[in-house]
Amino acid sequence: MAKFQRHVFICTNERAKDDPRGDCGSKGGHELAEAFKKKLHDKGLKRLVRPNKAGCLDQCAQGCTIVVYPEQVWYGHVTPADVDEIVESHIVGGKPVARLVIPDDQLTGKSA
Ligand code: FES
Repeated sequence: MAKFQRHVFICTNERAKDDPRGDCGSKGGHELAEAFKKKLHDKGLKRLVRPNKAGCLDQCAQGCTIVVYPEQVWYGHVTPADVDEIVESHIVGGKPVARLVIPDDQLTGKSA
């Protein structure tokens, strides 16, 4: 198993259409996961950074949501159009994309 430097978890959870919580899968989560996979491959990062499709990340109101580990940066309302910026600025440059970061006080389950 490769030892990745980072993981990008992308919510692709799906719920029934009448579920009031909504879901990232119906908001484009699958397309988002594919966009990350392609971009990371194109940048030659596929052995260093792993895009992982994830179940619900418990930030449904912010969907599509992703989280980048190990630095625990959460992003909300992410679309495939944001992938280039997240990879270039955050993954390559180390600077999170502030306009998409979910503030700590808006994260569900932030305190232990
Ligand atoms: S459905 Fe995506 S965070 Fe809950």
